[in-house]
Amino acid sequence: MSGKFIEAELQRLNEAGLYRRLRRVDGDQGPTLALDGKEVVNFSSNNYLGLANHPALREAGKDAIDRYGCGSGASRLISGNMTLHEELEAKLAELKGTEAALVFNSGFQANVGIISTLIGEGDVVFSDALNHASVIDGCRLSRAKVYVYGHADLQQLEDCLKNASASCRKLIVTETLFSMDGDEAPIKEIVDLAEKYDAMVMVDEAHATGVYGPNGAGIVAKLGLGGRVLVQMGTLGKALGGFGAYVAGSAGFRELMINRCRSFVFTTSLPPAVMAMGIAALDLVKKEPERRLALSNNCARLNGGLKALGYSVANSRSQIIPLMVGDADECMQLSEQLLERGIFAQGIRPPTVPPGTSRLRITVMATHTNEHLQRALGAFEEVAREKRIENRG
Ligand SMILES: Cc1ncc(COP(=O)(O)O)c(C=O)c1O
Repeated sequence: MSGKFIEAELQRLNEAGLYRRLRRVDGDQGPTLALDGKEVVNFSSNNYLGLANHPALREAGKDAIDRYGCGSGASRLISGNMTLHEELEAKLAELKGTEAALVFNSGFQANVGIISTLIGEGDVVFSDALNHASVIDGCRLSRAKVYVYGHADLQQLEDCLKNASASCRKLIVTETLFSMDGDEAPIKEIVDLAEKYDAMVMVDEAHATGVYGPNGAGIVAKLGLGGRVLVQMGTLGKALGGFGAYVAGSAGFRELMINRCRSFVFTTSLPPAVMAMGIAALDLVKKEPERRLALSNNCARLNGGLKALGYSVANSRSQIIPLMVGDADECMQLSEQLLERGIFAQGIRPPTVPPGTSRLRITVMATHTNEHLQRALGAFEEVAREKRIENRG
């Protein structure tokens, strides 16, 4: 078969300003990076607490390899269910205050698999317009009818719920902390609506896990809503510094996933070193609340500094600071201008975000020092000054 469409597709992406390329990091993931051979301060990582290169996680991983070897050899239902998987799941359930938890190989696999297990043809799913691609794909795969409600728009959500048939299964799915906007979903109100219209609630705590709530349990725990949310999903690869994902819920829900969820059943389980790193990360987050405090202080400092420079950034004060640009090309130019000054703040374009809302997604880490933040603000100030001169000229 001819592969001519490949060149045409790449050209189309290029012309639309949407061509992406991989950058290479040499060395470990810290607040500074060797990016394509250049030392930069890293404002583009989800390693919010700085655990990805923490000695405790490194040691836990090495020790697990010594004790249990490298691979798990099979899926969980065959011979790949190892002690460490269950140990990590017990810790996650304790953290979340749920009956049970189940580990998935990635957040993407978790979302796709869980949604398509909970609902199917003839059912209805209500999904926030800014939900992650994995949630969108899970909804599509389920073959249920999908209502996409406006971002955090409770009135629209309620209208959609009213229109759905009373007899089918209904699922509301939302991120708790939105990955590209850094704002929080109105979880309490969503749960109230779900109860009024007899719908299930599934939350994606990918960016809240480790950062919000008691011991980093997430936003649902922060709000004390654990008992009213059926499914709490999150990842181990962001603030927790490792890899993989989890879902927390009732014991029955866990059993259903083990039996029916295709992205859990038909895949080799995560290796023991990854599980050991997850356990070490949960222990660290609990033992060192100062990490979360440092993150919160850094967020306030950077957010306030950008505002003082006249940049339009959201008020949310979360570790995800979206700096809105709009046009995709302009956004990538701004990202390049900062990179030239040693600041790595990734530009985000469609399809990751809706057309016309390209932005820098600036992410803060607990391990950024004052000097890192000052360097960033200095670079932003220079770029703003240049832009003003350009506009006057
Ligand atoms: C909101 C959200 N959900 C799910 C995922 C997928 O998680 P993972 O990277 O573990 O596949 C991501 C990020 O990648 C995310 O931002």
